[in-house]
Amino acid sequence: MAMAIELPDGVSLEAAVAIVIALLTVVLLAVTSRDPKKAALKKAQKEIRELLQKENCGPICIRLAWHDSGTFTAAKAGQSFASAGGANGSIRFDPEIKHGANAGLSKGLKLLEPIKASCPTVSWADLLQMASAEFVAMAGGPRIAMRYGRVDAAGPDDCPVEGNLPGAGAPFGDGSKDAGEHLRKVFHRMGFNNQEIVALSGAHTIGRAFKERSGTTPHGYTEKGATKYTCPAFRARHDGAAGVGMPGGQSWTPKWLTFDNSYFTVAPEKELLRLETDKVLETDPGFAPHYRRYAESQTEFFKDYAAVHKKLSELGSKFEPAGGITI
Ligand code: HEM
Repeated sequence: MAMAIELPDGVSLEAAVAIVIALLTVVLLAVTSRDPKKAALKKAQKEIRELLQKENCGPICIRLAWHDSGTFTAAKAGQSFASAGGANGSIRFDPEIKHGANAGLSKGLKLLEPIKASCPTVSWADLLQMASAEFVAMAGGPRIAMRYGRVDAAGPDDCPVEGNLPGAGAPFGDGSKDAGEHLRKVFHRMGFNNQEIVALSGAHTIGRAFKERSGTTPHGYTEKGATKYTCPAFRARHDGAAGVGMPGGQSWTPKWLTFDNSYFTVAPEKELLRLETDKVLETDPGFAPHYRRYAESQTEFFKDYAAVHKKLSELGSKFEPAGGITI
């Protein structure tokens, strides 16, 4: 039976609806802000955004998160962290942070330490993945539908063995005859297909390589080692602001602090980096159609990248509660 509601004199129906919506919003906000896990994650998110804005350290954070999760072996899912690997924060421990592929990444951990100290209930695994996803969006890329609540690896015994991450050029440690075979071996092991390998590689639209870290480039630390794109005068940021963080190194794209599809469109140039594992994406019949598709459409790239980044961020993760937490 329909019920008639009488409004007080002078109050229109529109005003009454607006008041009800405002009240419901206040109630909803009050309920969510009382969830301490969500509140802590929100605090960490705010502090991470400030750090990324100030330090231009997004690229190292993306690499740190990917190297934490990229140790995963799908066939061992559900086994111990040491055996299955994955996004569990084990990269913060020796021996893992000292693995050859992780050269230079301890700097990223140090940058995040103060945020871990001020948000102690947020796991390291979540902090690493949050910083990575936040920077993709901040740099102009897609917002990734992240879940949080990852359980942390407890100590060095949870670290995986060395050698699960991809090498950048021959000779490949796994005996692969070329970069295509190597990429397939490594990424299929994690559970990714060819299209996902190409989309993930597009993350090199961001960041640089350093002589002192991977040794894949003659360009090293400081302005002396910089290219024309990695010197302080060049504006690589999405918002056009000045600042590159630490100068030096060699980038894959000119605007290496901007997340776009330029990794797939940029013309080869001496100043820009191309690893063997980048070049093969353009020529290998299993990869090339996706490479061309992402060159033609940034929208397609963003859609596929957001999906595969989310998948990467959850490899081998154990969530508490089981469904994870969205903020
Ligand atoms: C396809 C196989 C891959 C290889 C062989 C590879 C290799 C490398 C190498 C050699 C560097 C330079 C490190 C240094 O000298 O500091 C680097 C940097 C980087 N990689 Fe990859 N990578 C791969 C895939 C990925 C994926 C899947 C992601 C993320 C989803 C990623 C994100 C990054 C970022 C953001 C940097 C820049 C770090 C910085 O500026 O400090 N890479 N990668």
